[in-house]
Amino acid sequence: MRVSRRRFLGIAGGTVALGAAIPYLAQSAETGTEVASQTPLPTPFTRPLPVPPVLKPGSHPDFPDADYYEVTESVARQEILPGRSTEIWGYNGIFPGPTIVSRSGRRTVIKRTNALPAPTVTHLHGGQTPPESDGFPTDLVSPSSSRIYEYPLRQRPATLWYHDHTMGSTAPNNYRGLMGFHLIEDDENLPVPRGDRDIPLMITDRSFAADGELLYPGMSHDSMAGVLGDVILVNGAPWPVLSVAAARYRFRLLNASNARRYDLALDPVSPLVQIGSDGGLLAEPLSHDNIEVAPAERFDVVVDFSHYQPGQEVTLVNRLGEGPTAQVMRLRVGQPLTDTTSIPARLSTIDSLGPATVTRDFLFRYHDVWTINDKEFDPDTPLASPRLGDTEIWRFVSDFHHSIHIHLAQFQVLSRNGEEPGPYDAGWKDTVDLRPTELVSVIARFTGYRGRYVMHCHNLEHEDMMMMGTIQVV
Ligand code: C2O
Ligand code: CU
Ligand code: CU
Repeated sequence: MRVSRRRFLGIAGGTVALGAAIPYLAQSAETGTEVASQTPLPTPFTRPLPVPPVLKPGSHPDFPDADYYEVTESVARQEILPGRSTEIWGYNGIFPGPTIVSRSGRRTVIKRTNALPAPTVTHLHGGQTPPESDGFPTDLVSPSSSRIYEYPLRQRPATLWYHDHTMGSTAPNNYRGLMGFHLIEDDENLPVPRGDRDIPLMITDRSFAADGELLYPGMSHDSMAGVLGDVILVNGAPWPVLSVAAARYRFRLLNASNARRYDLALDPVSPLVQIGSDGGLLAEPLSHDNIEVAPAERFDVVVDFSHYQPGQEVTLVNRLGEGPTAQVMRLRVGQPLTDTTSIPARLSTIDSLGPATVTRDFLFRYHDVWTINDKEFDPDTPLASPRLGDTEIWRFVSDFHHSIHIHLAQFQVLSRNGEEPGPYDAGWKDTVDLRPTELVSVIARFTGYRGRYVMHCHNLEHEDMMMMGTIQVV
């Protein structure tokens, strides 16, 4: 079922009572409006899975203790549909952008040059970053100029990602391809798979025009619920295929879609053993048959392909999709190898936070535009001003699907609708999936830096249509 304009406006005009069932929203599985491609869809499972290149760090005399990188945002053409070329906006001209790998606690400095025809700003999602380098939506870099972003990365090893965060244009800019992985690592000597059996998977959905270009509807009533594509891309390739040995692999799953939620599972089924979340390793592994992933969430999972026969074809499916969007990618299982990896019963220590000194409530709902506490984004007026070092409980209530992200502070989910956290809420999070009429409580500690940050919905159309708030750490 899709959100038709009439239905959407119908619910939007109504009053949302907290906790009350809203008939349309409560049953909605869709998180946006699917845009139909105007060109035949590519045949699934023909393209090999691309893995974005890892950038080599350099050095710079002004930053003697840092890994130094230069990245240029540019317009480029890329083969996404077989035999055709599509214009993208990419970091170093590629989508996904290059992967950056940093050591935990090692300062990383990135000079970002904007060679695009529009101003942009880049955010490191999940980073504990000083405000000047966090990518506040109005800290724009004009075309043909550069900005230095400094990342101290005094934080746990984790799967972070970077992406465009331009005021009012984050959704189209991300759709064009401005996103990449930034992994933080250290020397933890866990026996989990590494090297070429540790693979980041960036899942996005896109639609294509008759000429093979990306099809994005622009801001309208048809896009306000969120833009969904009908082609599923992994690392920029439509429904790719990966040949694997009959052994364990670690996949760092990232839902980088503008608005689509996925319910991922393997077919034939085999466990997705979660070892990490947005903020790095869990305390202990968690076995799932399927994982629901909202926009911007990350799940590190280990899959043991020795559960399958050599020669078997395994599909990563999306149980929330229909037709083409019900499939994500294919894994072709090869021969076994001597697998020295394992998943230890203890992975890391997760400190518990608390007690909290302040509790705040945030209502995410449609009210002429997408709002938080009935307010539109205002860069100059904070929605909350937590004190540096304070621990706070934030309670989120929603009218629709919203994927709530807080900059700077990693958090832990305390409860969902007054009960235990859900199966996908474990560990340190920076983004939490709110479904229609849910109430989710999280506990966060605001450490690191004073200054101006944001929290927002990571359905990028909601974010651009004002569902964002300024957080001033004082
Ligand atoms: Cu991933 Cu404020 O964003
Ligand atoms: Cu962020
Ligand atoms: Cu939202």
